[in-house]
Amino acid sequence: MDTKNIDWGNLAFGYVKTDKRFVSNFKNGKWDSGELVSDASIVMSECAGVLQYAQTCFEGLKAYTTEDGRVVTFRPNLNAERMHNSCLRMEMPVFPEKDFVKAVLSVVKANVKWVPPYGSGATLYIRPFMFGSNAVIGVKPADEYQFRIFVTPVGPYFKGGIKPIYVRISDRDRAAPHGTGDIKAGLNYAMSLYNIVDAHKKGFAENIYLDPATHTCVEETGGANILFVTKDGKLVTPKSDSILPSITRRSLITVAKDYLNMEVEERSVRKDEISDFAECGLCGTAAVISPIGKIFDHGKDICFSSGTEKMGPVLQKLYDTLTGIQMGRIKAPDGWIYEVK
Ligand code: PLP
Ligand code: COI
Repeated sequence: MDTKNIDWGNLAFGYVKTDKRFVSNFKNGKWDSGELVSDASIVMSECAGVLQYAQTCFEGLKAYTTEDGRVVTFRPNLNAERMHNSCLRMEMPVFPEKDFVKAVLSVVKANVKWVPPYGSGATLYIRPFMFGSNAVIGVKPADEYQFRIFVTPVGPYFKGGIKPIYVRISDRDRAAPHGTGDIKAGLNYAMSLYNIVDAHKKGFAENIYLDPATHTCVEETGGANILFVTKDGKLVTPKSDSILPSITRRSLITVAKDYLNMEVEERSVRKDEISDFAECGLCGTAAVISPIGKIFDHGKDICFSSGTEKMGPVLQKLYDTLTGIQMGRIKAPDGWIYEVK
């Protein structure tokens, strides 16, 4: 396969302008048929709904080169479904789920030379998003929207790859009770920026947010869900109405039960039980599984027996199985893999 001349192994998680993007516009109550374009710029009104009142939502998924040289994406139908839910909550028009999947596959195909080779450690990140594009000055939804998908080759989300990270428990919240924590709205990320910059300044890779109503239970981080492993090898993941329903987490639950014969508990996890777990990590499209070595909790470190040098054995098994499925080394459950070429 003719791939771009890039040092894939040293790629950061960043934006690289690739050849084609998919664009569809919503006007007079309907979506146009959409097209692949070369222009990476967007021209719109200074008063566009997205610029004034942050009416935007997005998705994130990846394309992979498999061991036998195919190019595939992982469960794009679930991104389509989640974006559907985000749009309903944000008073935005739904982009039909079948067309969403078709558009994802078409953009990857049009940029196939940008899909990192098998074994390089890099992947192609796919970013579908939608925004209110016409002028809106009173507080109300826009009438016109753009749905767009670009792709960019990426390396690991956290510097150092899969070396355990150091995170802190945050005093700030990312989501209000009964708010928008369970959808992928840009506003959830805008309001986390102050806190992530502050965390980085103080030497932490991420913030762990607690439940916004009582601050007694663990929710998720700014960009990933959380996994715990008990000392007897059970997978535990926090359950709450204000966390994003991660596709990686939902897939790992199936992997744990059906491939690794593990017990899984989805339940509230109290902050004061964190120290009982043997392993802890983050999971998401960008993060894949990133192990957590230590959690800073108001002046003291919570350490896990898996240590700060490498991923613990149970998370490692989950990581190997999930990435094995994504890269075609392990047979996937029906419907998980969508082939581009
Ligand atoms: N939680 C948040 C806040 C996220 O931004 C993401 C990333 O998409 C996730 C969790 C992980 O979700 P997924 O596994 O679907 O990428
Ligand atoms: C993803 O994992 O796809 C995300 O959207 C997380 C984002 C913080 C990069």
